[in-house]
Amino acid sequence: MATWKLLLLQDSASPLMEQLSFFHDHTLLILVIITILVGQMMSGLFFNKLTHRFLLEGQLIEIIWTILPAITLIFIALPSLRLIYILDETNNPTISIKTIGHQWYWSYEYSDFKNVEFDSYMIPSQEMNNFNFRLLDVDNRMVIPFMSQIRMIVSAADVIHSWTIPSLGVKVDATPGRLNQASFTSTRSTLLYGQCSEICGANHSFMPIVAESISPSYFIKWISKMIEI
Ligand code: CUA
Repeated sequence: MATWKLLLLQDSASPLMEQLSFFHDHTLLILVIITILVGQMMSGLFFNKLTHRFLLEGQLIEIIWTILPAITLIFIALPSLRLIYILDETNNPTISIKTIGHQWYWSYEYSDFKNVEFDSYMIPSQEMNNFNFRLLDVDNRMVIPFMSQIRMIVSAADVIHSWTIPSLGVKVDATPGRLNQASFTSTRSTLLYGQCSEICGANHSFMPIVAESISPSYFIKWISKMIEI
């Protein structure tokens, strides 16, 4: 999860987010190189007395400084496109979980298991325990098995919300009357925190998302208990 003074991305908890981090670093490096290059050129302009009264055009230099940025952009665009396509891939999911955005909470449905369903509300500050994170913990967490392909089906009941967990690399808009899909794999056992990221109304800031990533055998135990209730 994000902690104080975190400026870059959160640590990845899925292979997709790992790839996104690599792409972020790659693009940032290109950006730094361009900034230094242009900065040195601009400061160079201030510290010389060069003039050329008859210089009106320069075909060669204009060809060079048009083509070089175009090639640079290709080096960003191609990895970006590759990521867009692998992010959209659904590889034979082991379970499907449906989440619905409401004003202002999320509800979850495990349609593979006798339609287990529950609501997930933020824990208010007055009711927090010592181990709860303020504005970030919920009463009923979404439980997922790690190292298994999971399909999220995302929709909304009233206005547009957005189901977002940064460390998984998932951010899907929850739109009324529409089913959106995301697919991910959690690589370890952790708590994964996220927040709604579509400005959805007065309590937009108070509908966090918590996924509890546990071993598949514990997940079976949990879902069996949920079916009995
Ligand atoms: Cu739901 Cu913002």
